[in-house]
Amino acid sequence: MKRLDKMIALLLVLALVGCGSAPQQGAPQEGSSGAVQDQQENPAEDTQSQAGDVQSQAADKSVYMDAGQDVEARVEALLAQMTLEEKLAQMVQPEQAGITSDDVRAYGFGSVLSGGGSAPAKGNSPEDWQERVNELKAAALETRLGIPLLYGVDAVHGNNNVYGTVIYPHNIALGATGDTKLVERIGAAAAEEVRAMGIQWTFAPTLGNPQNERWGRTYECFSEDPEEVARFGAAYIRGFQGEPGTEQYLDERHILACAKHFIGEGYTADGVNQGDVAMTPEEFDALLESGVIDPYTAALNEGVRTVMVSFHSVDGVKCHENRHLIRDLLKGKLGFTGLVVSDYNAIQQLSGATYKEQVRQGIEAGIDLFMEVYVWQDFLRCARELVEEGSLDEALIDDAVRRILRVKFEAGLFEEEIGGSAEQEMLSNVGSEEHRELARQAVRESLVLLKNDSVGEKTALEALREAENIRVCGQKAYDLGSQCGGWTITWEGRTGAVTRGTTIIEGIANQVMPEKTLTHDVQGEVLPENDAVIVVFGETPYVESGGDRTEASLAMAEGDRQMLEHLKESLAGQGKQDIPVIGIIVAGRPIPVEAYLEDFDALIMAWLPGTEGEGVADVLFGEYDFTGRLQYTWVKTPADIAEKFNEGNADRILFEKGYGLNRSGERLESF
Ligand code: GLC
Repeated sequence: MKRLDKMIALLLVLALVGCGSAPQQGAPQEGSSGAVQDQQENPAEDTQSQAGDVQSQAADKSVYMDAGQDVEARVEALLAQMTLEEKLAQMVQPEQAGITSDDVRAYGFGSVLSGGGSAPAKGNSPEDWQERVNELKAAALETRLGIPLLYGVDAVHGNNNVYGTVIYPHNIALGATGDTKLVERIGAAAAEEVRAMGIQWTFAPTLGNPQNERWGRTYECFSEDPEEVARFGAAYIRGFQGEPGTEQYLDERHILACAKHFIGEGYTADGVNQGDVAMTPEEFDALLESGVIDPYTAALNEGVRTVMVSFHSVDGVKCHENRHLIRDLLKGKLGFTGLVVSDYNAIQQLSGATYKEQVRQGIEAGIDLFMEVYVWQDFLRCARELVEEGSLDEALIDDAVRRILRVKFEAGLFEEEIGGSAEQEMLSNVGSEEHRELARQAVRESLVLLKNDSVGEKTALEALREAENIRVCGQKAYDLGSQCGGWTITWEGRTGAVTRGTTIIEGIANQVMPEKTLTHDVQGEVLPENDAVIVVFGETPYVESGGDRTEASLAMAEGDRQMLEHLKESLAGQGKQDIPVIGIIVAGRPIPVEAYLEDFDALIMAWLPGTEGEGVADVLFGEYDFTGRLQYTWVKTPADIAEKFNEGNADRILFEKGYGLNRSGERLESF
């Protein structure tokens, strides 16, 4: 779907910028296709002939290929030899689905990505990925200068594009654990399942702190509180990259992280994705100073070397053209010396009247690497014309390329052994039991117990443990896809058996059968012999703007609502109001449940647990207690969201941030 969306966008862009026919993805076209400006008698030929001369010269690799030299010396020695074309090629990041290894040889791209769901044409196994990634990386080494390729993916909860990898709980669940050490371990394990395929970069973690759960990306964020986001973001980065200053930092078992999306994405009006933060620049600067900048200073202190700019705008100005935020704040005041990458085709949303103007705006604002996934030839042509006609200072190009080369040298890419023994060993460990156990621990620790009322002489959860004939209701009890949520195998995620894993009901069966009888019903029908009910409900998968909701549409899935209604009727019809009913919510955010609260004797928020659903059974039936706490203020109705942080809002709040119970019903200590 995402790829289709993008192809449509590509055709629109081509129409808009008059780029003529879609650029032929392949060997470099001679001269411009006349797309952006009329072909002019320009010095391009001279430049090209000069470039042609240089292009034919053998590179002097004596310094930049010497790992004993310091990074800055290697950067300058390489930069000094680069033609304008070679520099610009380092600044563009095509989508792997739209290029060939011949394109990599011909252009020498700095980076390539797999967008959400963009698997190799051959297949979606770890081996297929390793083959494709390393084919493109090998091609890059055949260019004149042999600058290694940086390959990026959205490994946001494990190496989630790839079939058979371990899918961890999304960040909203990891924040609920309160356990930054665990998150660091998850980052390290996920890094190995990424590096196993030759991929060196993840576009993670997201450092937003959502103020409005109508936003479709709420589940990608650890907390509404920027200080919590700072703690967890730094931990994840440490796991992905290794500890700065140690041998492990950016070694062959670790990957580059990416602090995203810079900055303030959780404050858009009504939580609209890519929307506008309705503040003046002065008010926004004050908001950043109040703490919203802290996750990024923590990330920089943790040695993050890439930052991705956000789609949204502030006071109507898109972040991707906001020089004040990128150049003055991030690169200036915060002193960031790594690379800044744009988001997916994001400069095509800028205020410039033509694509060429948008390219200029992005470069002048301080973006170094452009994720212009299908229009990369237009990007290269526009950028070259801007420099050659004198409307863009080549010093800006040099700064961008310095940063890209610096990160590549720091990450050891020039010394990388493609498909080496470490990679092969990690490949054999993809989806390992060790990693699954880690994910299962995260599921356990993320569960938030919201209520556990008495049923007779016991609490509901005690009664459940003693039950002999348990009914599990709801389609989400056996839906791995809903458990994993968005960014799983496909960009949007989907319901069903999307990858290898354990559903919630399979986990329960593993722990209680054959001693207990366990049956399942999607509609919420109970049987006369049942003495306990577990009902699983919530949201079906979504991603980015696809997850944006209005006040009216922020709700559990309609099928689940009907199932809960039927369950109520069935219990009444069977005269079984005395058996414990345990509700388990599978959703990417707090959803309206107040209307159903009294129907549950116990209620658990399980978030989006990922592939290791048995973590739920571990706490329901095993020796583990509940430790999870809410990182978000949970309101009674969506209409209460806008006011939830205002003074005197108590009557709008269902569960406050930090809320969570243990099985004895005691309130857990807040974060
Ligand atoms: C998406 C997201 C960003 C992701 C990028 C590459 O649109 O905004 O988080 O890293 O594109 O897939």
